[in-house]
Amino acid sequence: MGRYITDELVEEIRVRSDIVDVISERILLKKSGANYKGICPFHHEKTPSLVVSPVKQIFHCFGCNTGGNVYQFIMKIENIPFPDAVLYLAKRYGINIPEQRIPGVNKNQKSILHDVNRLAVNFFHGQLLESPQGKVARKYLKGRGIKDDTTGLFNIGYATPSWDGIQLFFKEKGISVDIQKLAGLIKEREDGGGYVDKFRDRVIFPISDSEGNVVGFGGRVLHDEEQRPKYLNSPETPVYKKGDILYGLHLAKDLIRKNKEAFLVEGYFDLITMYQEGIKNVIATSGTALTENHMRLLKRYTDTMNLIFDGDDAGRSASARGGMILLNGGMKVRVVLLPSGKDPDSFVKEKKREGFLNIVKEAKPFMEYMIDQTIAESGIKDVNEKVDCIKKVLPFISGISNSVEKGIYIALLAEKTGVSERAILDEINKRSDKRVRGSGFEIKNSQPEVSNSDLQSITFNPCMRAERILIQLMLLDHKNIEKIKRDISPDDFIDRDMASISSILFTLSDKGDTITVSRVMDMLSEDRLKKIALELVLEDMEYHEVDKNISDCIKYIKKNRMGVKKLFNQLKMAVSEGNNEQFQKLHEQILKIKN
Ligand code: CTP
Ligand code: MN
Repeated sequence: MGRYITDELVEEIRVRSDIVDVISERILLKKSGANYKGICPFHHEKTPSLVVSPVKQIFHCFGCNTGGNVYQFIMKIENIPFPDAVLYLAKRYGINIPEQRIPGVNKNQKSILHDVNRLAVNFFHGQLLESPQGKVARKYLKGRGIKDDTTGLFNIGYATPSWDGIQLFFKEKGISVDIQKLAGLIKEREDGGGYVDKFRDRVIFPISDSEGNVVGFGGRVLHDEEQRPKYLNSPETPVYKKGDILYGLHLAKDLIRKNKEAFLVEGYFDLITMYQEGIKNVIATSGTALTENHMRLLKRYTDTMNLIFDGDDAGRSASARGGMILLNGGMKVRVVLLPSGKDPDSFVKEKKREGFLNIVKEAKPFMEYMIDQTIAESGIKDVNEKVDCIKKVLPFISGISNSVEKGIYIALLAEKTGVSERAILDEINKRSDKRVRGSGFEIKNSQPEVSNSDLQSITFNPCMRAERILIQLMLLDHKNIEKIKRDISPDDFIDRDMASISSILFTLSDKGDTITVSRVMDMLSEDRLKKIALELVLEDMEYHEVDKNISDCIKYIKKNRMGVKKLFNQLKMAVSEGNNEQFQKLHEQILKIKN
């Protein structure tokens, strides 16, 4: 805390650190060819599948697919965020990080935003409690069962219908318009003439980071209306990254640590009502999908998470994805099922703490819930239904990185469907051969019989190989980026993952930055992309005629893209016309391209 780490320092520490040293301090590494091998500390295994490359300064586990650079190793093993990993390694290598002496724009900016937000909290809270206009909001909160103490504890406020209420308040305090805008509290008028308050006529929920700094706001309309969205949240600001913030965590964290578990809900009112009824180890995503950063944040406090789904949530993909992220982060994940049509707010208000704790007793492990849910939807009366059901559950089971856990759920699925484990395993293996990836072409408004997932399963093997080769060549030798960039753009890649990686490499090269694999790892935000890049780097491929390879691949990709694009346009047409026969025909043609 109180230190400002520049990009240069991050680079310097990276260069001074040696990933082999750092990892050897924790696990036994043995030399194996150009690399080192060891037992992976991130999953259970008997034979070593963790590979560490001293040349590339990266690690990768071929068992659980964890990998990255030295910072990512420390983040993962120590369970700490990036800045802490930087400090950790700085200390390890005796690199001095100066206290805030550098004109720490970012650091200062952040604390200014915290202060400004705090002022806004007081302003909104005052408006709620004291202003005549606040009366409707006070009435609204009362109607929703929120007690005065609770309003105080959560610092709930009210933004009046005024267009410039907060601006006048800030003006008096001498806070510049630029800062107000940076904080996301005002926005430019549509006609360009000045600013208007972002939050108007809404109940305001201040959002804090885990340290209790106010980073943003959520606002709810007082009456459900058609013209305005029910909830409005602050835009992302230097202090508010939605994927990093969980509502209520600063209040709940100590209890979560003590109770060793937490409840994860969606809404502000869900959380506040639960808290008010004495269930205080609760946090809310408040309208964003759960991210890997959320998961890492939660893991600092507990490894057990209870998701609360209502009866209608049934396999809602957003909740399912969140569950998978937590599961793959190594957490125990359970699902507490509410009666259909209830959310935690309405359920707890009605049944109180007692009633809630009763249904918690019935909570199921997440994957078992997914299986049961799918069986309930698809049925398992005959072979077709069973196949259907297994098809739906397998993507989730395949997504589990811990192989022991995977085995458990395969057994469970076998038992519940009456299909042998062997047959399910075969199906999983078939899937992993296929390398299911996004096709790169969106189909909108698809009819039920031609689902998006049909399209997702179309693979473009030779073309994908060409794409992978290009990415691999760029990762192995950054000089190749220049050559490839001239002839191809990220849009030319059919595989979306390859497109993302190429775009990062091209950007780095445009900026004239030094490009090392380890550096690229920091830029790849998604774990999936990291894994792909690591696999490509560690594949031990040797290219003899690099330039010829490059031009061949580029030619192939360009030719293919034209053809595929045309077919896809026709396919989209068939889908929008509901012409299933035509769809099947085109589907087959596209599949042929793959061979
Ligand atoms: N949300 C949002 N923007 C919307 C709708 C919802 O950000 N337009 C977020 C809010 O954080 C909300 C959460 O998603 O609390 C859950 O949404 P929903 O279930 O629709 O609302 P409730 O929490 O039940 O809200 P309320 O009880 O106030 O109607
Ligand atoms: Mn609700």
